[in-house]
Amino acid sequence: MTAHQRIASLPHHCTFTEGEWRALARHWYPIAYSDEVAGKPLARTLLDQPLILYRTTGRQIVVARDLCIHRGVPLHLGWQEGDELVCAYHGFRYGTDGRCTKVPAQPELPIPRNLCLETYPTVERGGLIWTCLGPDPSSSATVPDWPELEDPTYRMLHDPPPEWDVTAGRQLENFIDVGHFSWIHAGTFGNRERPEVAPYDVVRTPSGFHVEYPYLAVNTAASALGTETTIERWMVYDLHLPLACRLMIDYGEGRRHCIFDAPTPVSRRRTRIFFFIARNFDHHVPARQLLDWENSILAEDKPIVESQRPEELPVDLSEEFHIRSDRFATQFRAAMRDLGLGANYSA
Ligand code: FES
Ligand SMILES: [Fe+2]
Repeated sequence: MTAHQRIASLPHHCTFTEGEWRALARHWYPIAYSDEVAGKPLARTLLDQPLILYRTTGRQIVVARDLCIHRGVPLHLGWQEGDELVCAYHGFRYGTDGRCTKVPAQPELPIPRNLCLETYPTVERGGLIWTCLGPDPSSSATVPDWPELEDPTYRMLHDPPPEWDVTAGRQLENFIDVGHFSWIHAGTFGNRERPEVAPYDVVRTPSGFHVEYPYLAVNTAASALGTETTIERWMVYDLHLPLACRLMIDYGEGRRHCIFDAPTPVSRRRTRIFFFIARNFDHHVPARQLLDWENSILAEDKPIVESQRPEELPVDLSEEFHIRSDRFATQFRAAMRDLGLGANYSA
């Protein structure tokens, strides 16, 4: 049975309802940056499922359940030898397809076919490693197409992906919220003098939503442009359901600065944030300076989003209060509801 045919089993200690988990597990999520997986296996958790991932000698990525099925020991306590994982407890070895290849205590006996780790499909693209726990051939779930990440004229920059005590839905909604810049971001690019949110259109696309929005931002000397000016940023959002978004900021004359946000649900209320940038100009500016600037903006969002109650994003639109500037968020919530992400809450 291949990973594509298997009906995924719920993780131990699952914090989601079964319906929410199955709805979320049909989709793809980034679990690591490519450069995090080099030399030794990496342990990550997706939707409460502990995973181990490693790179083979042929540079393929293998993602498997991080649990030896002999006596339930996490495989990240062991090591990688060639293209195989070796369990620390009794030395069982597992190959790239998950099958056990060696039981050192009884080398003369055949190895049962079902002595096999669960493995998951992977896509490595643009510096990110994506996986899907419960692939559903009838679903249209895909990995977003972000050409800037494979375009050599762009420089892609990221820090290690942090974990926040938030639900992924609340974090993504914060990323697409155009009404908060003049308030919590007044310390970076927000313009306190211009809190009005002009009407904007939300366009449905095959994979999500497209929104274009102009914002008169303040650029401090520490900003991405490094000029002390007020400048109209043309902000173009492309949201790929359920939980990934590219924001392209067009500074004119072909200068583009893209910010990507892909919150990966670790558990119901804990999220690993894949937040990274790609820009096609000013390649002389040190990476650290650009990342520090983006991180200072993210640090303004974090305490707000971690404090929101209820923690789960309400997908019932009769909950909370919506104003005109929330159109993007309300359509996002409705789409999450339509994906079956909970009667009342999404991840
Ligand atoms: S628990 Fe892994 S080999 Fe025994
Ligand atoms: Fe923000």
